[in-house]
Amino acid sequence: MKRIRWAIIGSGGIAAKMAATLAEMPDAELVAVASPTPGRAFDFGAGLGVPAFDSVEEMLEVVRPDAVYVASSNHRHLDDALAAAAAGIPTLCEKPMAVNRADAARMVDAFRHRGVFLMEAMWMRFQPFWDRLAALLAAGAIGTPRIIRADFGFVADPDPARRWSDPAQGGGALLDLGVYPLTFAHLLGGPAEAMVAQGVAAATGVDGSTSIGLRHANGMLSVLDCSILADTPTTAVVSGNEGRIELEAPFHHTRTLSVYRGGAVLETIPVGYEGSGYRFEVDEVHRCLREGLSESNVHPLDDTLAVMGLIDQARALAYSG
Ligand SMILES: NC(=O)c1ccc[n+]([C@@H]2O[C@H](COP(=O)([O-])OP(=O)(O)OC[C@H]3O[C@@H](n4cnc5c(N)ncnc54)[C@H](OP(=O)(O)O)[C@@H]3O)[C@@H](O)[C@H]2O)c1
Repeated sequence: MKRIRWAIIGSGGIAAKMAATLAEMPDAELVAVASPTPGRAFDFGAGLGVPAFDSVEEMLEVVRPDAVYVASSNHRHLDDALAAAAAGIPTLCEKPMAVNRADAARMVDAFRHRGVFLMEAMWMRFQPFWDRLAALLAAGAIGTPRIIRADFGFVADPDPARRWSDPAQGGGALLDLGVYPLTFAHLLGGPAEAMVAQGVAAATGVDGSTSIGLRHANGMLSVLDCSILADTPTTAVVSGNEGRIELEAPFHHTRTLSVYRGGAVLETIPVGYEGSGYRFEVDEVHRCLREGLSESNVHPLDDTLAVMGLIDQARALAYSG
């Protein structure tokens, strides 16, 4: 099978994890890295043995990769992805797609207009647990699903220069962490028709801890928390009228689903795997490119936009007063 030639934009922690993931995959090859931060690309590229560029545009033009992975800080996703769209290069963009829905919509429009592939790197959606959970719910394992509860929180390094604390770099818990419980709720519960939200800002002014309640159009409720100030369990539960399914921490790449009925565990289902959990989203990009798709039907851009809208709404409700 022809190998897909990838380039990475960005040189931080997740860029390194993706480089290691691509190295494990027989049908993928890392061919270049780019970072406009002086010196960063060259150090990163030298460590990986691939060409490095301090201009994203130059890398796209010279290397013409089959796919690009945008792994820069949140505030740079828009420009980096627009550069890829202009060059006609299929793109996997880290979550959150952008710092707000309007920017995400600009990105989506740019790619759709050119018929070029774009997908949010929402790796949770491609974890092995997801299809198993969906099948259990569809089979009525807990009766009718009624309430979703999910959270993601940890005490982040309070250094105001770190990207999650810095408003200029798209900091805040909602963009970095809240995107997971919100996506979980959106994908399982469908569109939300009402939201309540309360928040407490971090010292730098970014959203620190936020609690969100959603009423979905189908009558389900979601209760969600995210925080960069508090150590939360990072678990999820889907409750129905005949039982519940618990996702062991960290829920967004859980290794265990537990089905409860009548208050007792009926079944504990292992859904773990060996190796990198990021390979599943890469597999999806490969499938889409080989099938000539400009969008994933498993994780469509409209889902990404809907969740970006929920993040905007939560910020407005919880932090504007
Ligand atoms: N899917 C996941 O599991 C996951 C996990 C973590 C983060 N993310 C997402 O991935 C994106 C990047 O996150 P990250 O955790 O990789 O962030 P990070 O390690 O803070 O790196 C982000 C950017 O900061 C710059 N940087 C990093 N270390 C630096 C240093 N020592 N000196 C100077 N500059 C430095 C680099 O800029 P350049 O781009 O200019 O090189 C790098 O791309 C974010 O959008 C985040 O939400 C996803």
